[in-house]
Amino acid sequence: MDAPIGVFDSGVGGLTVLRALTARLPEEHTIYLGDTARVPYGTRSREVVTRYALLCARHLAAQGIKMLVVACNTVSADSLPALADALPIPVVGVIEPGAQAAAARTRGGAIAVLGTPATVASGAYQAALRRLAPLSSVLARACPLFVPLAEEGWTDGEVPRLVAERYLADLRRAGADTVLLGCTHYPLLANVIAEVMGPGPALVDSAQATAEAVAQLLRARGLERRGDGARHRTLCTDVPERFHLMAERFLGRPVDLVEAVDLSP
Ligand code: DGL
Repeated sequence: MDAPIGVFDSGVGGLTVLRALTARLPEEHTIYLGDTARVPYGTRSREVVTRYALLCARHLAAQGIKMLVVACNTVSADSLPALADALPIPVVGVIEPGAQAAAARTRGGAIAVLGTPATVASGAYQAALRRLAPLSSVLARACPLFVPLAEEGWTDGEVPRLVAERYLADLRRAGADTVLLGCTHYPLLANVIAEVMGPGPALVDSAQATAEAVAQLLRARGLERRGDGARHRTLCTDVPERFHLMAERFLGRPVDLVEAVDLSP
């Protein structure tokens, strides 16, 4: 099926999921929407996150997408049922694939889940891991300052290291064997997080596992596209120039054009 896959996040972080998706499914057209006018979502209430998420999802649905990938942990944790109810197409989030990836890596030790305050408060990862990795204990930690650091490109050096030390020192002492990067922005800080956590724990993010879940869904429903010339549109809700630079850095490839869109209801 020739229609694009719609992918959205509150900002640039979901591009880490888009990157994994286009690597896994290179023949698929995509439309990515970053709600840069409203980022961050992770410090807001469930009601507000769901309202913003519905605006993004409806805008992408109006572009004729064949399925929606919620490339945002906060929205996946707070609003997935609301999105699935509102749209007539399949909706895939990042929590279940991320939890499956962590459950596959743990050796029965503690799993540290790092996420936004909203994701941690929702308990979504904790519940999924209790089901998928019942022998492991789960330590969840909100790391809100990682998001602006990633948005600013401050992903290495003294400042992110000090912030990571403050958030993670006691998790290191607790001896987690797996660290689940439960926020789309955190893979950008993976080097610093790995340095602070030490050589023991495996770092897991949901991007690859989500791409695999999307591939399986498309295959199961006969929705795959075959052929060359995949097109990728990039939309954001504010300041496309800055977003453009960050998108190229996150995706590791040139981005032709970033279109600014207005989602006012
Ligand atoms: N995309 C969000 C997430 O994965 C992080 C950024 C935000 O707080 O909006 O939870």
